[in-house]
Amino acid sequence: MPSTCSTFRCRSVPATWRVAAQLVAQLPDGGVVALQGELGAGKTTFVQGLARALGIERPITSPTFTLVGEYAGTGLPLVHMDLYRLHSPDDLLSIGFSEYLERRALVAIEWPERAGDLLPADAIRVNIRLAPDARTRIIEVRKM
Ligand SMILES: Nc1ncnc2c1ncn2[C@@H]1O[C@H](COP(=O)(O)OP(=O)(O)O)[C@@H](O)[C@H]1O
Ligand SMILES: [Mg+2]
Repeated sequence: MPSTCSTFRCRSVPATWRVAAQLVAQLPDGGVVALQGELGAGKTTFVQGLARALGIERPITSPTFTLVGEYAGTGLPLVHMDLYRLHSPDDLLSIGFSEYLERRALVAIEWPERAGDLLPADAIRVNIRLAPDARTRIIEVRKM
């Protein structure tokens, strides 16, 4: 299957949430969503949009000492990983990374590049960056 890439320009948090909701609608059986972008780009905001679309009301946070948060909603569960503080891909074994990927869940991963080869090749790539106007978020969604 050829890869497809869609680009969205979002000028508000709700606009980002709408893009995330569209993605959820395309993933009825879940999957891995790898979110790349600098600090402050809007990755966690996108994950919050995934959560809302899954009927999860609890706010998505990136706790300092846990790399993984799990959220139950009305649809698929959401697994949120923020690997910013991961020292080495080996440390993923201790958080049960591979087991999470096997789950029937939506698994959203910030800083996926830190997972190295352990990141599945078929993960959906979401790249977020700030446009030169420093206000618009350019969101690219690439599916394998
Ligand atoms: N589409 C958007 N429009 C306006 N502000 C946004 C948007 N996306 C994110 N933000 C804001 O940018 C800041 C950083 O967002 P965050 O999602 O925490 O970034 P990251 O997780 O990539 O570090 C937050 O204050 C958030 O509200
Ligand atoms: Mg974040």
